[in-house]
Amino acid sequence: MLSDPASPILLLDTGVGGLSVMGEVRKALPGVPILFAADYAGQPYGQKTEAQVAARVAGLLGRITERYHPRLACIACNTASTIALGMVREVLEIPIVGTVPAIKPAAENTRTGVIGLLGTAGTIRQPYVDELERNFASDKTLLRHAAPELVYEAETKLRGGTPDRKVLAAALNAMTERDEAMAMDQVILGCTHFPLIREELADVAVFDLGWPADVQFIDGAAGIARRIAHLLEGETFERSGPDRAVTTGDLDHFLALKPVLSTYGIDQIEQF
Ligand code: DGL
Repeated sequence: MLSDPASPILLLDTGVGGLSVMGEVRKALPGVPILFAADYAGQPYGQKTEAQVAARVAGLLGRITERYHPRLACIACNTASTIALGMVREVLEIPIVGTVPAIKPAAENTRTGVIGLLGTAGTIRQPYVDELERNFASDKTLLRHAAPELVYEAETKLRGGTPDRKVLAAALNAMTERDEAMAMDQVILGCTHFPLIREELADVAVFDLGWPADVQFIDGAAGIARRIAHLLEGETFERSGPDRAVTTGDLDHFLALKPVLSTYGIDQIEQF
């Protein structure tokens, strides 16, 4: 059944991380209406238990879907996707696209066979990630590191602040404790907040830590956007005005993001 042309795609994260996915979705589908949902009341997912994240994401997606009738939902959060994708697919009737660490592309790109993975604590311990490693990188070395503090560095940047280079350097350094890390040539940004500080991470890596300039910091957002475009092939879209963003948290805190949200084509900002 074809959707109402004005029905949006829902992107859900705990905060600004969803914007790294939204940027790519906008490029792939310029005419599609988007509803951007930020579960600030639940942030950080990365420090919660699996049961807390699964219950929260399934409940919230259910309520948002009832109110806004999206045609497709993208969980624009690696933590929520690696924990709850299967469960959410069972309870919602619309297509659900997840965002999971880009292990497959990293394994295809690497020349040295050594790959770093930065994510939240919740993401890097998931069996889902073990399975991605088994399926796509069983002959590679995957160095996982939890860097939840980078979520706040990205949030700070998008509110007009400057990410703390020392915090970035400490996170990158911690990933390179094992000897094999000398050869690492791919770093997967396995949290949707991290691509928002990709330039800063790359800059710190080269200039503060002396890493080779050809280490690539990659994420899966472009692939997610292609997947969404594929699932919506043949559908019609009517985006009659700027998009809407909703938050479960404090509205004033969210409104501080107004300038940055408007660069993504969002200008209706509401409490959910
Ligand atoms: N952006 C989320 C992710 O991709 C993490 C943020 C959080 O911990 O709430 O995992």
